[in-house]
Amino acid sequence: MAERVFVFGAGYVGLVTGACLATSGHTVTVLDVDERKLESLRKGECPFFEPGLSEVITKALAAGTLSFSLLGDIEAVENIAVIAVGTPSTATGSADMTYVRAVADFLEEKAAPGTVVVMKSTVPPGTGAKLSARLAAAGLGYASNPEFLREGSAVTDWFETDRVVIGGDDASVAKISRLYADMDSPILACDVTSAEMIKYASNAFLATKISFINEIAVLCDFVGASVDDVSKGIGMDTRIGASFLKPGIGYGGSCFPKDTRALDFLATLNGYDFHLLRSVIDVNSRQRLLPVRALKARFGSLEGHRVALLGLTFKPETDDTREAPAIEIAELLQAEGAEVVGFNPIPVTIPGLDTIATTIEEAVSGADAIVLSTEWAQIVESNWPALVASMTGERIVFDGRNALDPKVIRAAGGSYIGVGRPEGVGANNHAG
Ligand code: UDX
Repeated sequence: MAERVFVFGAGYVGLVTGACLATSGHTVTVLDVDERKLESLRKGECPFFEPGLSEVITKALAAGTLSFSLLGDIEAVENIAVIAVGTPSTATGSADMTYVRAVADFLEEKAAPGTVVVMKSTVPPGTGAKLSARLAAAGLGYASNPEFLREGSAVTDWFETDRVVIGGDDASVAKISRLYADMDSPILACDVTSAEMIKYASNAFLATKISFINEIAVLCDFVGASVDDVSKGIGMDTRIGASFLKPGIGYGGSCFPKDTRALDFLATLNGYDFHLLRSVIDVNSRQRLLPVRALKARFGSLEGHRVALLGLTFKPETDDTREAPAIEIAELLQAEGAEVVGFNPIPVTIPGLDTIATTIEEAVSGADAIVLSTEWAQIVESNWPALVASMTGERIVFDGRNALDPKVIRAAGGSYIGVGRPEGVGANNHAG
């Protein structure tokens, strides 16, 4: 059965949610305060780079199931209202609830009794329990329905999610389950606070896997083991699983850094010291220093050295640079006196980095070091022998994502440094 849905927020989560629900046949209006953004959305133009999203929006617009409206223009909200606004980090690490509160206030006043308010924004466990009591007084239902979308594959993630989590009372869960009726994914029904915790715990666990393999990578460098083989070997154990065991300069993005900090803040607020999570966060900060340390160890001072920084987004296939390791690396390298030239396969800027080349060749030519910070296919699949040949001096290639073949770099006269990939060890290092 098609449901009438109002999605608050035409940001990343709101647009994917609105467009995908509309593609499933529900009648969706996405609301925002930015008229210019809405105007281009009505033409099917997506305000950010996300593979497949423009197509889904265009398809739903053509089917007449998706519309965009200015928040101030909306007369009535009924049936299902999805909150999908940002909850950025505050200075203390807690989640900033300003936008969520504004939408909740709006709904309390405008939504028709019987409307179920669905929280898609990531909010600290405990938020929904309080908010739902307040909304109940206005005759509104409440459900927590966290998203697990990854940037760069959000549309596929929506339709092929491992699970749909819905927290709420029986009536709200039954209603929100109908939004996902055409999908095969299992639905986990639980209480609101548990649903909120599932979101934070999932992100914290994935971040833990990354920091864990990064710690193992450091040890691999000490003892002469290949972290690529170690990661593969432990990942083959189905109890552990192969995903999120890619070592490198650590995680960035709009979720892991923010959500781990918010969970740590929640623990501290409750008088609990979440040691493990704190270490995960610390390890991640340390990983970003690795390229700077490695170059300092080789060059001594970085004064007069030119470094090409390749991949400025926090991961490939996105234009998002939020908490990208490249930002801190560029800042540290420049503070140490290096001249840094950035390159990214799709045009982006990062704070503090003025020189961004338009081609990888331009960035690398004349540099005596490369730091690969994001494993874009366009970067990894470049002509590395030619790139190394265009460098000068020691031709150091710091591969922050273990994405390049050390043999190729070395054969071209480059000096390869990976993360947990000591020279002469592991499948990727074997000669021939
Ligand atoms: C993540 C979660 O995967 C998603 O479920 C949640 O809704 C939002 O946060 P996203 O941030 O888009 O998604 O990207 P993801 O692919 O998970 O990668 C996050 C960061 O971890 C990237 O910087 C990536 O480079 C890094 N990463 C990921 C690793 O360093 N190693 C890995 O093995 C996997």
